[in-house]
Amino acid sequence: AARGASAVAHPNIALIKYWGKRDEQLMLPVTDSLSMTLDVFPTTTHVRLDQDAAEDRAALNGEEATGETLRRITAFLDLVRARAGSSVRAVVDTRNTVPTGAGLASSASGFAALATAAAAAYGLRLDAAGLSRLARRGSGSASRSVFSSFALWHAGTGTGEEGDTSSYAEPVPAADSLDAALVIAVVNAGEKAVSSREAMRRTVQTSPLYGPWAASSRDDLADMRSALVRGDLKAVGEIAERNALGMHATMLAARPAVRYLSPATVTVLDRVLKLRQDGVLAYATMDAGPNVKVLCRRADAADVADAVRDAAGTVVTARPGPGARLLAEG
Ligand code: DP6
Repeated sequence: AARGASAVAHPNIALIKYWGKRDEQLMLPVTDSLSMTLDVFPTTTHVRLDQDAAEDRAALNGEEATGETLRRITAFLDLVRARAGSSVRAVVDTRNTVPTGAGLASSASGFAALATAAAAAYGLRLDAAGLSRLARRGSGSASRSVFSSFALWHAGTGTGEEGDTSSYAEPVPAADSLDAALVIAVVNAGEKAVSSREAMRRTVQTSPLYGPWAASSRDDLADMRSALVRGDLKAVGEIAERNALGMHATMLAARPAVRYLSPATVTVLDRVLKLRQDGVLAYATMDAGPNVKVLCRRADAADVADAVRDAAGTVVTARPGPGARLLAEG
């Protein structure tokens, strides 16, 4: 095995959401999900094996990780070590350029980069689906950041080994003519009140709307796949927006309610509606935080950004981006 490796991965934004696990240990989701990997906010991770260390260590943007963050990284490395037949500890150095915990999916780029670097450092030979399955164990959405552009994460079937083997992401075809941009309105880059992990658990266990949303998500996914192949951005946007609003409805109906959307979120949603009334294709999607990602044509991205700028702190325009990539070994 190499003594170290580094990798880079980008966040992805789900157009058909992952919200709810059927197995928390194996990180198996209830539904299939579909995302666009972005070309902004990369995470770069270096994993170095340390023969002499008794514990794993990790630094995030130069700051030593402790508590739950370190526990998640160690648990993930334990999986890699079990597969590699190794007991050697690692030193992980991660740099990410996305605000952590703001619903901008830093765990997706983070675990996709960590999976890629750790697999190489420990000498695991994994194909893309195998890497996606591994990344999934760190954070579900990370399974999709292994791939560029549009990716579909299969919920898989069954439990145990069967579930684990059948749940991975893969690229989904989209028409070359599909000219998508995502304008990200960062309305609040602070830490979120409830982690997505806890929020999705509560939603599955207590929301009366969860079952109906999961069922309708299956139809959304089929419609989305055909809209992507047709290159029909209007349909892609409509489906993404209804799927995301439905997901937030399931959380609002949880007991106690989980509400990520803030007044600034709603202001941005009003602007998106106004853009549509003015004939601009613009559709919104929100994750486990108040930020809004507006799907639009590349040519309209500057106008969309202008329309939401006063309601948001920061506005960043993203395009479909690359999959996770090994940078160096040794
Ligand atoms: C709202 O992948 O962060 O962004 O699997 O518990 O780590 P864990 O959750 P995570 O959840 C992402 C939820 C979402 C929707 C999505 O990305 O599909």
